[in-house]
Amino acid sequence: MCGIIGYVGGKKAAPILLKGLQRLEYRGYDSSGIAVLNGSIRVTKTCGKVATLCEKVSENNMPDGVIGIGHTRWATHGAPSDINSHPHLSADGRFCIVHNGIIENFAELKADLTAHGIPFKSETDSEVIAQLVQYLYDGDMISTLRNVMERLSGSYAVGVLCADSPSTLYAIRKDNPLVVGLGQNENFIASDFAAALEHTHNFVQLNDYEIAQLTARAVTFFDRNGKSVEKTPYRVDWDISLAEKGGYPHFMLKEIYEQPKAIKDTVSARIKGDNIVLDRIEFSASNVNSINRINIIGCGSAYHAGIVGKHFIEKYCRISVNCELASEYIYSNPITDNRTLTVVISQSGETADSLAALRLAKKLGSHTIAIVNVLHSAIAREADDVLYTYAGPEIAVATTKGYTTQVAALYLIGLKIAKVKHIISDARYSELLNEIARLPEKVSEILKDTDKIKQYAQSYADHKCVFFIGRGTDYAASLEGALKLKEISYIHAEAYAAGELKHGTISLIENGTVTLALVTQEDLYAKMLSNIKAVQSRGGSVLAISSQKNMQIGKESDGLLAIPDCDDDVTPVLTAVVLQLFAYYIAAKRECDIDKPRNLAKSVTVE
Ligand code: F6R
Repeated sequence: MCGIIGYVGGKKAAPILLKGLQRLEYRGYDSSGIAVLNGSIRVTKTCGKVATLCEKVSENNMPDGVIGIGHTRWATHGAPSDINSHPHLSADGRFCIVHNGIIENFAELKADLTAHGIPFKSETDSEVIAQLVQYLYDGDMISTLRNVMERLSGSYAVGVLCADSPSTLYAIRKDNPLVVGLGQNENFIASDFAAALEHTHNFVQLNDYEIAQLTARAVTFFDRNGKSVEKTPYRVDWDISLAEKGGYPHFMLKEIYEQPKAIKDTVSARIKGDNIVLDRIEFSASNVNSINRINIIGCGSAYHAGIVGKHFIEKYCRISVNCELASEYIYSNPITDNRTLTVVISQSGETADSLAALRLAKKLGSHTIAIVNVLHSAIAREADDVLYTYAGPEIAVATTKGYTTQVAALYLIGLKIAKVKHIISDARYSELLNEIARLPEKVSEILKDTDKIKQYAQSYADHKCVFFIGRGTDYAASLEGALKLKEISYIHAEAYAAGELKHGTISLIENGTVTLALVTQEDLYAKMLSNIKAVQSRGGSVLAISSQKNMQIGKESDGLLAIPDCDDDVTPVLTAVVLQLFAYYIAAKRECDIDKPRNLAKSVTVE
């Protein structure tokens, strides 16, 4: 996730900015840069670590200015490279910006500005902001920034320097965090406290569509109409080490809480009115009608996301979908040809088995789409098409936001194909599109109150074995729930298709055995109830996970965790969040090394 630091005061800005960027390194990034204003604006930026930036800054003899901005970038539009790194200067060199977020209408803005003769240097969505500030500048930065915000759609936290206002730093934001740090004769902007906590503990939150104007001695806020806004500062007494995880004890928990934003970023940029626009992937009627099979391929959680996708796509597209483990696919003499669409899913984009599967599918003549989080990773580069999940960097080994954004991306692909094939009614299409768009809000609802999940989790922390059961898409979600639990808590966990228990595994149920039953599919309630009773009658206890509309299931079980009501076809995103928290709190109680479970690596680049 990108990071921002900005400084205005009486000290040299460059060292303060560099230190701030080091404090933001924990967020994950691929490049970094700073800009200092001293008469003119000087930028130094580079692909790679902040340490490399520090070397470059001393080689470049950065000016002694007392005002500047800095950035760590996590690439979303344009490969990680020196040119694509922030800060970005306007074409005339008078304005300079750093940006976190995604500018959804950057292509239109860029075309428009280019037509007005403004040249662009980078492939980023962010540069458009610098050029837009230059284009709209009317001599007054507040009115200029108001106009800029009117034109931008998407999410942004932006720091701005203007050579005509050499002692003033500006910031704007929408849907992306930005705080203003208040010091003694110095002030800061930062994407999170960590970057400025060393200098001040007093902060003010910038709200959506607000503008902050900072000098060394004063900070003024304006709303989108240019009216000044009074704000009350608050004190943050965090220890710096806590601040580096954004206040969370583990990256995994932080990333669980980042899911509303991650899903929103992945989905909302692709929903244009009633239309789903999947970047440059062409889903023409002739392309879609020529597909007679879809293979979804991945490893671990990515494979589990694929199984959720299989249920959704088969239901709405009526195309046969095989979900394959990459390591099995490559040695299976797979049925793949030019009428097969292959979807390879990978958070890291570097998983060796998945990359090998992608190469094999291409060799066999299949069109390939990669669902990948890390920009320009090997799988993203080699696939015919790529649909990025905008989850931001995932640092905890166990994936959370990576998985839920993959599922969301698969829903979009499924719904798009169904629409192009004309086999979904307009009403159902709109209903599902609306449900997908509302997933972030429903995930937030779960995250607002996690006490009950924590209580159940802690009460099960001493168990040796936990079963997960479900049917249909709930079974797919159970697989991911069991993986989360076993990898971070080291408790043996197994997921079973609920109807399959009686064919063998039920022999393992004895007094006290815990089973989590996922019961979110209305047409399968009755069947699941029989499975729950079968477990209970052998002495097992059942914790049900169901939607609020199905409270009856709670009465029939030994406990209930309710997810917000939503369409049955998209419940796996919500149950995933509950199961992630369940696994997390068990592992925390067992004092496991949650972010780095034993024997596991974040990116598995060997076969
Ligand atoms: C589990 C987990 C792994 C990954 C798998 C694939 O929490 O993180 O199972 O899902 O190693 O990794 P990517 O998605 O990077 O290909």
